[in-house]
Amino acid sequence: MLRARPTATLAAALAALARPRAVAVGAAVGVAPAPSRALAQVPDNHCWKCNHYDPTSTFFCKNASCSVILPTPDPAPNFFDLLQLDLPGAPFTPGGPAASSQAGGDANAGTDADAQASPRHAAILRHGFTVSAPTVKRAFLSLQQRLHPDNFSTKSDQERTISETSSMLVNRAYQTLRDPLSRAMYILDLHGITVPETPSAADRDVLLHVVQALEEIEDADLHADPDAIKDLVASNARRIEGEHRVIADAFARNEPEVARDAIVRLKYWRNIAAAADEKLGVSSDA
Ligand SMILES: *[C@@H]1O[C@H](CO)[C@@H](O)[C@H](O)[C@H]1NC(C)=O
Ligand SMILES: *[C@@H]1O[C@H](CO)[C@@H](O)[C@H](O)[C@H]1NC(C)=O
Repeated sequence: MLRARPTATLAAALAALARPRAVAVGAAVGVAPAPSRALAQVPDNHCWKCNHYDPTSTFFCKNASCSVILPTPDPAPNFFDLLQLDLPGAPFTPGGPAASSQAGGDANAGTDADAQASPRHAAILRHGFTVSAPTVKRAFLSLQQRLHPDNFSTKSDQERTISETSSMLVNRAYQTLRDPLSRAMYILDLHGITVPETPSAADRDVLLHVVQALEEIEDADLHADPDAIKDLVASNARRIEGEHRVIADAFARNEPEVARDAIVRLKYWRNIAAAADEKLGVSSDA
């Protein structure tokens, strides 16, 4: 891949390396079109079947004796609201002002005054990063269970299509928020800040470290010494944990630029970890 870039400098090559391998961010843009014209025309938050009105309904009608699937929210709320995640000091309040803030990738996400003024949105920006992986997973599984295709086998084509679209959206939210790196990048995106592709001169020490670490991993003879890169892996893991703390603190203090710099470093450490996993034959999916 790197060879395909004729003018690639070391820095550019390393920048390419720093791109996460298995993390899909930015996939937040472009929610699938509303599946049904008929359902899309139903006034906001009125159930298309029983006409029950509840502004807090998402995905399903809240009338217990109805409970039909509702059109996939479009535009989708941000992924924290989509998964209905509680945050420190800001429990999920469906239908609140924050529910109208857009998913990441929307150019207006950072400039929506209403959404920015809402305590919920502020909590997402400041504390969204510290949401725990088990919490995200629980929220995901509970929604995914309700949206399971088996639950729609006897329903109309429209409902089945909606369930698939909603399920895909929920899955994308989960994939984005479960991983600390993509979660951090998503929050940065909500701030309207992007991660630079090319490392700055200030990253020279980081780049040097990465080159050395990658060489050490490549040269290691694990047959002669199975523990050859054990120390490297351990210290790299500590670096990753350290960046997680820096990112959490920076977001909590509302200093997204500081978080961004830590995210740039984190991407490099994650690539070292991935190279080590590959060498050790570890599945990086753990
Ligand atoms: C709830 O759903 C039932 C069955 O569809 C319906 O008869 C009833 O009017 C609904 N209740 C409300 C408050 O919308
Ligand atoms: C269908 O949805 C219900 C919740 O409404 C859930 O308990 C159940 O497990 C789902 N069924 C399947 C087959 O996933």
